[in-house]
Amino acid sequence: MSSEFRLSIHGQWSGRLAFFLAATGSAVGLGNIWKFPYITGENGGGAFVIVYLICIAIIGVPIMMAEIMLGRRGRLSPINTMALLTSEDNRHKIWRAIGWMGAIAGLIILSYYSVIAGWAMAYVVRMASGVFLASTTDGVNGIFTALTADPERLLAWHTIFMLLTTMIVARGVQHGLERAVRYLMPLLFVMLLILVGYATSTGAFLQGVNYLFSADFSKLSTESVVVAMGHAFFTLSLGMGAIMAYGAYLPKDVSIAKTSFAIAAADTLVALLAGMAIFPIVFANALEPAAGPGLIFQTLPIAFGQMDAGTLFGTVFFVLLVFAALTSAISLIEPMVAWLVENKNVTRIQAAVYMGLAAWVLGIGSILSFNVWSNVTWSIPGLFKDLTIFDTLDGLTANIMLPLGGLFIAIFAGHLMAEHKVKDEIQTHPTLYKVWFYLIRYVTPLLVIIVFLNLIKLI
Ligand code: TRP
Repeated sequence: MSSEFRLSIHGQWSGRLAFFLAATGSAVGLGNIWKFPYITGENGGGAFVIVYLICIAIIGVPIMMAEIMLGRRGRLSPINTMALLTSEDNRHKIWRAIGWMGAIAGLIILSYYSVIAGWAMAYVVRMASGVFLASTTDGVNGIFTALTADPERLLAWHTIFMLLTTMIVARGVQHGLERAVRYLMPLLFVMLLILVGYATSTGAFLQGVNYLFSADFSKLSTESVVVAMGHAFFTLSLGMGAIMAYGAYLPKDVSIAKTSFAIAAADTLVALLAGMAIFPIVFANALEPAAGPGLIFQTLPIAFGQMDAGTLFGTVFFVLLVFAALTSAISLIEPMVAWLVENKNVTRIQAAVYMGLAAWVLGIGSILSFNVWSNVTWSIPGLFKDLTIFDTLDGLTANIMLPLGGLFIAIFAGHLMAEHKVKDEIQTHPTLYKVWFYLIRYVTPLLVIIVFLNLIKLI
């Protein structure tokens, strides 16, 4: 079987814009607006942000190009794409693990991602009811604590979010989704600009921006570097096959290089805007930047509570955040769903339901780690302290499985696949191609390995 001249059985994007929107929809999500600000706060600000930006540029973008390239070459689910490409070039079966590990990582990420998306849904209702109007820091805090302390409410929202995700995936990627992303993403961007505008009025805008961009590398720990690299993978949806799966539906004439730059740029811009909105609010209200996963839920309501028409803006903002999460969530199970359809003689609807159910069950562990099981933790002395189930699932996937997947993808694309095929797919300016090939062959894998070795040294 040859990988040339085939189309995916799952369909194809209508064109370049559709792919850009879908991939950006996957990339832009809770990772940008919820996770980026809180891990920046936990890791001390500027220096962490710089390392993250470097990782995006020299690890993220090259791997994104490689993933799209592999996907479009294989035109199958990531598991079967990797099986096809390894057998075409007579490579060891072990490289198929890229597909398998990725599928498992996607399922684990989705399980806790859905729980946090549930918080955002809960906040739509709270915002709309006006409870945050002129509320104090303590009041906002209390509302967040009450939500996360209640496993039943969290389970209800988690269930609703998983149902929505499953329904969209069941209908096929193109229907509705392309359209939703087209209008909702730009709107989310506008809402972020409004929030940054508010942040300039808090009196702590410069302090917030300074925190985000002025780097003191002496404060940077090895763990922070690992988290920064892990987040570069997480925020660009790399290392598990999501982008590979989307690449399988990409028309042949679209430039992989240009699209990858555009996706990475859009994703980074959204994350930085979120940071510029949130940190001024943190400092203006004497909050703690290292507050953890609750950070945006404890800061943004203060802003919305104080601004004109805050109830409206706040409601719209959290609705958009839920949509951003949905367009990411679907890409987390698409690889598994596509594989089930290809191999197990099930319909797309059945496949989506099975995977949705699996992620739903797994998510219950994360729900409980915010309340009933919040004391069930473990530590590695000197490295990780008091990790809950949620922390463990997040750390294991973002900081270990995704970079490992990315490393294997880089090695496969840079060393194991016949180069004429790689060149034929990437099709870009010769110099640009050379730079990319050099990065993916040497620089990117080496950097990932160095970060990993430092991690191992610490253990
Ligand atoms: N990138 C998304 C975010 O930032 C999350 C996500 C979607 C993801 N698909 C992924 C993360 C695949 C890792 C791998 O919210």
